[in-house]
Amino acid sequence: MNATDPPAALASPRAGVAVQVLGLVKHFGAVKAVDGVTFDIGTREIFGILGPNGSGKTTTIRMLCGLLKPTAGTALVAGADVATQPERVKNGIGYMSQAFGLYGDLTVEENLRFYGGVYGLEAALAGRIAWAKQRMLLAEFGARLAAKLSGGQRQRLALGCALLHQPPVLFLDEPTAGVDPAARRLFWQIIRGLSADGTTIIVTTHYMDEAERFDRLAFLSRGHLTAFGTPTEVKRTFGEGMSLEDIFVKLQESEA
Ligand SMILES: Nc1ncnc2c1ncn2[C@@H]1O[C@H](COP(=O)(O)OP(=O)(O)O)[C@@H](O)[C@H]1O
Ligand SMILES: [Mg+2]
Repeated sequence: MNATDPPAALASPRAGVAVQVLGLVKHFGAVKAVDGVTFDIGTREIFGILGPNGSGKTTTIRMLCGLLKPTAGTALVAGADVATQPERVKNGIGYMSQAFGLYGDLTVEENLRFYGGVYGLEAALAGRIAWAKQRMLLAEFGARLAAKLSGGQRQRLALGCALLHQPPVLFLDEPTAGVDPAARRLFWQIIRGLSADGTTIIVTTHYMDEAERFDRLAFLSRGHLTAFGTPTEVKRTFGEGMSLEDIFVKLQESEA
C-alpha cells in the first residue's frame, strides 16, 4: 500500500496482539521520519525496534504512545487507537523516553512518590513504591538522592517510575544508551522478568549487538521497515551464517 493510503478499519485488537501498527506515517515538512510502517507486536513479547540514528525509532514510539499525531495511518495500542483515542492509549502504557525526567534533588523514594502522584495512585501507592524498589534492586537506596545514583541505578529508577501504574504495554526508548555492560545485563534480566509477568515490552536500540535479545524485531532504515521477524527468521531471510549485526550493516549500506 502507499504511505498515504488510509488505514484499514481497526475495529478491535486481534487476540494475542498487544500493538497493531497500520500504515503509520509521520512527515516533518520534507522529512519523512516514518514512511508507511505496518507490523504487529504480540502480548508479552520483548520487541525490538532497531535502526541507526535518525531512522525513525523515537518518532514511531512517540506515535505509539499517543504523544504525536500520525500524518497518516494509525496503531492500536492496549486496545485504543493512537490517532483518535490518544488519552486512552496514554493510560494503558508506560513510557521511558530518552530523556526521562528524574529529579536529582529528590530521593529514590520521593521520585517514586512524585510519579505515583502523577498517575493518581493514592491508596495503591505505598505498595507500588515497595514493589518498584524491590523489583528494580533499589531497596537499599530509598533515601539516596537520584543525582547520587550510578547510571544503571538511575535507569532502573526511571523504569520503576514508568511502571508504577502497572501498564500492560511498556515502551523504552534507548534505555541502555550510555549504561555500562554490567548494568545493561542487569537491566535485561529485569526486562525478561517483567515479560514473564505478562507485560509487553517495546525497546528501541541502536546497539546492534542487543538484537539477539529480542523475541522479534523490526529494523528501520530512513523511516522504512527493512527487516522484521525473530532473530532466526531475519537471518534466514537476509543471510544464513551472518550475524544480525552484519545483516543490519548490509541493510544500511543498501539504503544509503
Ligand atoms: N520534531 C521534529 N521536527 C523535525 N524533524 C524531526 C522531528 N523529530 C524527528 N525529526 C527527524 O525525523 C527523523 C527521525 O528521527 P527520530 O525518530 O528521532 O530517529 P531515531 O530515534 O531513530 O534516531 C530524523 O531525520 C529527525 O531529524
Ligand atoms: Mg531516538
